[in-house]
Amino acid sequence: MTVREMQEKILRLKKEKDVCILAHSYQAREIVEIADFTGDSYALSVKAAGVKQKSVLMCGVRFMAQTVKILSPEKRVILSSPVAGCPMAEQMDVELISSVKEMYPDYTVVAYINTTAELKTICDVCVTSSSAVDIVKKIDNDKILFIPDCNLGDFVRKQVPEKEFKLLQGGCPVHAKIGREHVRQAKELHPNALVLVHPECQPEVVEMADYVGSTSGIMKYAENSPEKEFIIGTEISIAEHLQYDCPDKKFYPLSKGLVCQNMKATTLVDVYNCLMGKGGEVIEMDEQTIKLAAKCIDKMIELGG
Ligand code: 13P
Ligand code: SF4
Repeated sequence: MTVREMQEKILRLKKEKDVCILAHSYQAREIVEIADFTGDSYALSVKAAGVKQKSVLMCGVRFMAQTVKILSPEKRVILSSPVAGCPMAEQMDVELISSVKEMYPDYTVVAYINTTAELKTICDVCVTSSSAVDIVKKIDNDKILFIPDCNLGDFVRKQVPEKEFKLLQGGCPVHAKIGREHVRQAKELHPNALVLVHPECQPEVVEMADYVGSTSGIMKYAENSPEKEFIIGTEISIAEHLQYDCPDKKFYPLSKGLVCQNMKATTLVDVYNCLMGKGGEVIEMDEQTIKLAAKCIDKMIELGG
């Protein structure tokens, strides 16, 4: 069977079975092509709150499927690949953050959406990379405890200098691998290219960039820019999607090592199997977790909109 034939089967099945397929922008091209909606974490969360179909298949990582379940608890939510976790989301747990909260009782706990549903239950508000600066500015407290990503936290702190931040040492292992030397080498190879990076990159990388933003932010910036060449400092799929979408421009990954194995765990066969009722992971959560975690995500949508 060809890729196209498999995609056609999937498109027929999802209609028949009333399933909405959501895909994060880090998914492979063949997955993005069969999705009902593709976007960054913020756009996926907003979309999840208004899905009309009875079931949602999330092609992304576990915290994204959990977000859909929290926002639409009556729906059947399936994570396309049970091995697709996010290592950053699993770095900090309720026990650790409860003890940190005791040390800083008057701080608002801002959780990057890349956290588990359990951890969200004890946080005040969620943010995504595209909404973090705006939301932190709107929070009615000058003291911010930002978890778990210290690189995103540092980026937000620099944009909101009037507030006081406490950061912990968490982060994305994929983006954190990139250093100054990668940027220097990429610029040497492509001297006319602009450098666009995700705020999960280290501060030394962010400082060398021409633009810093979420996956969607990077894509929009490159699409709308009059420039013709771009070095893309985030998961390698973004450079690939941009190359398809803007064939008259040139996109170079900042490093070939920018591959998130978890985001890449989902294949078309996984999607097909999930639609046939086999494989995947059905997201189950108790009512209390949904109720408490929803407050944190609802607050993000309220402040971010
Ligand atoms: P976005 O908020 O840009 O979608 O980022 C999600 C993510 O996991 C980045 O590593
Ligand atoms: Fe998690 Fe990093 Fe992969 Fe994003 S790129 S899903 S933060 S491990």
